[in-house]
Amino acid sequence: MTIFESSRPKAPGYRFAENGIKAPAEETVPPGFRRETPAALPELSEIEVVRHYTALSRRNFAVDVGFYPLGSCTMKYNPKVNEDAAALPGFACLHPLQKDEDVQGMLNLSGSLLEALCEITGMEGGTLQSMAGAHGEYVGMKLFRALFRARGEHKRTRLLVPDSSHGTNPASAHLAGFEVVTIKSGADGLLDIAAIEPYLNDTLAGMMLTNPSTLGLFEPHIREVADRVHEVGGLLYYDGANLNAIMGKVRPGDMGFDVIHVNLHKTFSTPHGGGGPGAGPVLVHKELMPFLPAPVLVKKGSRWTRDWNRPDSIGKVSGWYGNTGVLVRAFTYMLSMGGDGLKRVSELAVLNANYLLAALRNVYDAPYPGPCKHEFVLSAKTLKETCGISASDVAKALIEHGIHPPTVYFPLIVPECLMIEPTETETRETLDNFIAVMKSIADMAQKTPDALHNMPLNTPVRRVDEVQAARRPLVSHKMKKEKTDGKP
Ligand SMILES: Cc1ncc(COP(=O)(O)O)c(C=O)c1O
Repeated sequence: MTIFESSRPKAPGYRFAENGIKAPAEETVPPGFRRETPAALPELSEIEVVRHYTALSRRNFAVDVGFYPLGSCTMKYNPKVNEDAAALPGFACLHPLQKDEDVQGMLNLSGSLLEALCEITGMEGGTLQSMAGAHGEYVGMKLFRALFRARGEHKRTRLLVPDSSHGTNPASAHLAGFEVVTIKSGADGLLDIAAIEPYLNDTLAGMMLTNPSTLGLFEPHIREVADRVHEVGGLLYYDGANLNAIMGKVRPGDMGFDVIHVNLHKTFSTPHGGGGPGAGPVLVHKELMPFLPAPVLVKKGSRWTRDWNRPDSIGKVSGWYGNTGVLVRAFTYMLSMGGDGLKRVSELAVLNANYLLAALRNVYDAPYPGPCKHEFVLSAKTLKETCGISASDVAKALIEHGIHPPTVYFPLIVPECLMIEPTETETRETLDNFIAVMKSIADMAQKTPDALHNMPLNTPVRRVDEVQAARRPLVSHKMKKEKTDGKP
């Protein structure tokens, strides 16, 4: 029931004593603009309102509630100290239009964060402006274009994207005006160099890659791919949405990438999901630095300034200098972990994923043998063919056990795909429980498949029409119009 439906006329809410002061609206709002009827606000007592919103919040699933192995999304535990730092008034109460000399603390944090990201990724400069991974990709593609324009290479229009890539990759490349060419993965899930061969010419703009890929596999031939693309003048873009497998181990810059983005809200621990908040800093090699979005952070002596004098810049890509709260959380996380801690994150993330893969590879189909990096894919193809139980049924059954489902039906190249990313922050007990639940679901699929079709049983909403929920979501309450005059 919505708060509007539980409203009762004249329910006891707040009352203000009459004090004879005229409401400011009556004095300042011209009559034509004044409301003639009272706003249709729900009428409830304070405790009813508190209970309503508390009940709603308890229907939400979150990583603070239970295991959340949503592949490609890195739903790791976010330490609360990050929140304390982001809420410090010196950060939280800044105004976007304050002058550089008044915001040295935030500029210093931003500059230091950028330096740390460059060190982790092996890049030379960058911007913190982009507000999400997809936004970072788009900025990266605009940087590609700016470099080709500066070189007078107008024929470079083709952008290669593997078929295992995240959907935002081809979308960003297309939006930036490139012709997207999908490259089919080999049977082993890896990039097939022969498949890119026909495109290695002077029409090639470059290639976008995630490494490890969304299948959780590391491309062992990445240096060769980089060399082949560079030989014909193309550029390599790294989708670094997720660095959880590589920090302190290997750097995109050393693999041969020219431009990368990093999702701070994944690897660097900002609570995310449902569309935000996020930050997708873009990092580049020297050659691309002149084109970075203005303003660019510059350190002069011990002071930071924002340099607007960037004649070749692709322009400003967001308000002020990025999503401040997310930047503060990410920097707090880095400082609290330290370099060794971040390396350990990668080791444990990969260990946890391989622990699950080893336990489940004989229970579900494992299209790629492993070992994997920070995530892996299973398939419910055999269960579907033999018992009529799909990846979606497995996901719904997990909800019944208080576990958030993995990503399903992605990457598209794996039928009935379940993409699982446990992250480094889960305990062995949590992983063992997940294994036991996944095994019990596979067992039920054989013995009582109909029971699985009905799950979940104990959630406020059971099975929704997923197509309509995605295409026509009802995200706000619509008041039903009272019929007062006999007209509809
Ligand atoms: C591999 C990969 N690339 C890009 C993105 C896009 O990031 P964002 O959702 O912040 O736009 C994601 C997000 O899930 C991702 O997993």
